[in-house]
Amino acid sequence: PASDAAQWPLSGRHALVTSGPTHEPIDPVRYIGNRSSGRQGHAIAAALAHLGARVTLVSGPVSLPDPRGVQVVKVATAREMLAACQSALPADVAVCAAAVADWGIANPAPAKIKKGPSGDEAPPVLSLVPNPDILATLAAPGPRRPALVVGFAAETDALLPHARAKHQRKGCDWILANDVAGGGVFGADKNTVHLLTSSGTEDWPTMDKEAVASRLAERIAQTLADLSA
Ligand code: CTP
Ligand code: CA
Repeated sequence: PASDAAQWPLSGRHALVTSGPTHEPIDPVRYIGNRSSGRQGHAIAAALAHLGARVTLVSGPVSLPDPRGVQVVKVATAREMLAACQSALPADVAVCAAAVADWGIANPAPAKIKKGPSGDEAPPVLSLVPNPDILATLAAPGPRRPALVVGFAAETDALLPHARAKHQRKGCDWILANDVAGGGVFGADKNTVHLLTSSGTEDWPTMDKEAVASRLAERIAQTLADLSA
């Protein structure tokens, strides 16, 4: 019925969302991580579910409750995150909000790295290897590409030029450009984003992360409806 379509515009749709940081192990007790809290990604998963979507949330390590009505797949590394995303396909829309580590450790030590008996040995040298780009992989042309692929661009400087370059490079449909200068976004309530699409840039007002998520979810619902009209 029409009222259901209005209340649950994403009913029958599957949404895939990545959120949180990844942790790249150095040894069994140490890792490389980053300052992502997962709040924006988790809010997006909740907002999509609120509009009726079936949501798979692939999350790195966060200290947030699982959003209600969302299937949460917990991962640690970028490679695990990519594998979980690929297992979750097909999806109508993918939103990559995770702060994926760009590099992993080439050979994580199987046991805790020790300073050695005198405590003044040379520090270990970590060798890094590039991680897969989950957003670019999901956005690559192919039969399993979601109809709509959305990424974030977190930048400390030259926000819009960097975000536009990312939009091109990643092959995604939309980029939410996110000014993280000063570190004030990480773990905070509010966020200021600009939505970059093929038709231009929209400046959204500073809003709670939940409000950014709702507005994005509404836009996704509208766009998927237009695409299948
Ligand atoms: N992303 C991803 N997998 C990666 C790196 C990034 O899925 N290995 C996604 C993020 O979830 C985000 C977008 O790509 O949606 C942009 O991430 P960002 O770190 O800003 O871009 P990078 O291409 O990694 O460039 P840089 O860190 O050098 O700015
Ligand atoms: Ca990056």
